[in-house]
Amino acid sequence: MKTLIMNLLKIKISFVVIAVLLFTNSSMCAQSNDSSIDKKVKDLISQMTIEEKIGLIVGDGKFLHVENPEKVEDGKGIIINDQRSRLVIPRLGIRTTAMSDGPAGLNRETCEDGKKDCEYTTAFPTATCLASTWNTDIVEEVGKAFGNEALEYDYNLVLAPGVNIHRNPKDGRGFEYYSEDPLLTGKMAASMVKGIQSNGIGVTLKHFVAHNQQANRRYYNAVISQRTLREIYLRGFEIAVREGHPKAIMPSYNKVNGYYTAENPELLTTIARQEWGFDGLYVTDFDGKGSAVAKVRAGSDILMSGNMQEYNELYRAIKDKTLSESTLDRNLFYILKFKLTSPRAKGYVPNSKPELKTHAKIARAAAEEGMILLKNENNTLPLNLEKENKVALFGKISYYLIAFGTGSGTVRSYKYRVSINQGLQKAGFKVLKNMEASYTDYIEKIRRENLVPPYFDNPKMRKDNGIKGNQAPPHFKNRLVAFSKEKVLSKEEIKEYESQSDVAIITIGRSAGENYENGYLPITQIELELVKNVSEIFHAAKKKVIVVLNIAGVWETASWRDYADAILLTWLPGQEGGHVVADILTGKVNPSGKLPDSFPIKYEDVPSASSFHGLPVDKPINTFYKEGIYVGYRYYDSFNMPTAYEFGYGLSYTTFEYSDLKLSSDTFSPGIKVTVTIKNTGKVAGKEVVQLYISAPTTEIEKPVHELKGFAKTKLLQPGKSQQLTFELDEESIASFWSGISAWVADKGKYEIQIGASSTDTRLKESFNLPRDIVVEEVHDVMYPNSYMKELSRFDEK
Ligand code: BGC
Repeated sequence: MKTLIMNLLKIKISFVVIAVLLFTNSSMCAQSNDSSIDKKVKDLISQMTIEEKIGLIVGDGKFLHVENPEKVEDGKGIIINDQRSRLVIPRLGIRTTAMSDGPAGLNRETCEDGKKDCEYTTAFPTATCLASTWNTDIVEEVGKAFGNEALEYDYNLVLAPGVNIHRNPKDGRGFEYYSEDPLLTGKMAASMVKGIQSNGIGVTLKHFVAHNQQANRRYYNAVISQRTLREIYLRGFEIAVREGHPKAIMPSYNKVNGYYTAENPELLTTIARQEWGFDGLYVTDFDGKGSAVAKVRAGSDILMSGNMQEYNELYRAIKDKTLSESTLDRNLFYILKFKLTSPRAKGYVPNSKPELKTHAKIARAAAEEGMILLKNENNTLPLNLEKENKVALFGKISYYLIAFGTGSGTVRSYKYRVSINQGLQKAGFKVLKNMEASYTDYIEKIRRENLVPPYFDNPKMRKDNGIKGNQAPPHFKNRLVAFSKEKVLSKEEIKEYESQSDVAIITIGRSAGENYENGYLPITQIELELVKNVSEIFHAAKKKVIVVLNIAGVWETASWRDYADAILLTWLPGQEGGHVVADILTGKVNPSGKLPDSFPIKYEDVPSASSFHGLPVDKPINTFYKEGIYVGYRYYDSFNMPTAYEFGYGLSYTTFEYSDLKLSSDTFSPGIKVTVTIKNTGKVAGKEVVQLYISAPTTEIEKPVHELKGFAKTKLLQPGKSQQLTFELDEESIASFWSGISAWVADKGKYEIQIGASSTDTRLKESFNLPRDIVVEEVHDVMYPNSYMKELSRFDEK
């Protein structure tokens, strides 16, 4: 190892020199592959005034040609996150970038009821639900449809997908992100990028990077070791950039290791541009903090949503020569290159008529694979539609699907959302009419009374949301039903419903959203009583009880799950949710989703529970990522911590046999091919998600007991049919990040390959040997923590 270090040091010195040259080069004159575009861009830049240059950088033209730019309110200017293309420099033909939010579908303006020419968009399953499909093809299909809506409604930049890691279930934005695992996150994001960009428009990977909480979200500093940053928080972005080639990235609001991400050239230029080859546009998150000059120098190209203070700061800096015009020109290069290569600039005329019916089918197909069967005791499901036809449908959310979350990641312009009640009735079930009427009244009452929901009813929330008295403000419209109290039912009422029905279905819902740590609101006493009483009463009558979880993210199930016979997790499944629940309950669709996150037994078991969301609690300044690389199953499996449901878990109505695990060689050189055969041994057709974990030697540095290094989903296998799956492992997939020498290194020794149906359900194992250490890639020694922190270690004394 000594020689390895010496060699590395030598390589690193020359590497630093090259890096410096590259940096100088890229900051002075960025270049694209297309020389005619380069020429046009340079030509345009040469004709622009300083005011126009700054005007494009600050708010994408927001203040250009406005009579009183000072009067444009911050965040409410002419350019918002739902703005179509408009000429901002008419004499040069330069238009706005026309951005709209995602990631669960194009989030346009709300369509007023009854408005005929409304531009509706499809509400697709949210990112966590998509990740649960483990199917990159279906995610790419969703991306194609989503991107087509953006194209036809005249947008050329979608502010999605979200690529952050699920560090802690309380984060209100978790539903906008995929998983606790960087490989699954990266692969899903790359597929979404490819799908959306196949329409010629661009995506914006967000929020770069380590945006894992909402508390003090515009200021907090995430303190993360270099290794954890590289292996966990940057890795998903890296995969999405290298494989998907996104046209834009959004630096996040927060700081990482002392610097705002939007002000950090090490992150934006050294890592993403130089190491990963990112050649797109940086669009900062809207109304973030920090200095405009520092952001522009670091490589943030467009400052959204832009304000006069930023405009003036840049103008002054140019005048007093603390900022060079060539820095502006470098940013403008990326901005204009994006604009000139957009479909609109190439002459495409949007038709405002995307194929919403076809897109609805894609949303439905994705939700079919994204829902997860958590429990199915004694084959409770599928139900027999003939014999178990009369449904006692409990829970307000059964009649009001939470299709998506709140905040910018919602889909305001959805046309409809199918509730579980509607879905069941369409499929042929008879939902008790008296229950339907009583719950519908209850929902109407919630709307009518418009009371502040319990979660928001405390001094801080009241102040933050401008709540006065007991009335919810208008922007709570979409939160009202989901966040209000569950309806209380007496045992007598439940008994009455039991006597009229064949089966009980209870839906429990949890929404979540931007600006709040509302991703993990515990089960309430009313909900617990409901589950308990319904179960006791229906079980006494030998009838089944099914719980449907329409929740945004990881949740606590251990305290109540024993009551239910079956549990179906829908996540926030998009507009078609109710149909899909019905199809799974009847067996028309065999569930094939698996968990992209571990479900802890209790919140305190989450590895980041004690450090989330930083200190001081009221307004965190620093959040120490003390759990280090031990996020999700990397923690639970390495520390033998039991979970309620482990990462990668999910049931099917059929069974699968795993056999014939073969490695192309027992020695790794230069890679290894792994094949395994999966056979459907049950009675119905189904798809299986197969996971490949590697347990690597820990001779040089510590590692989790195993890590996901590959996954695949079979096609729909008929009973008795088999499919061989192949995984290719390269050097990169067996390397860990060694911060001491700033390199990805694969340690020599024995590697165990585990093929499993989940992170703990290993079905087959084989090993290979790596005869010598491999330095897979040396990278820059950047972004080190600004504060000392002791990270969790497997080898700490107990
Ligand atoms: C969010 C972004 C979003 C932007 C524009 C910000 O508050 O963090 O994700 O794209 O607003 O709506």
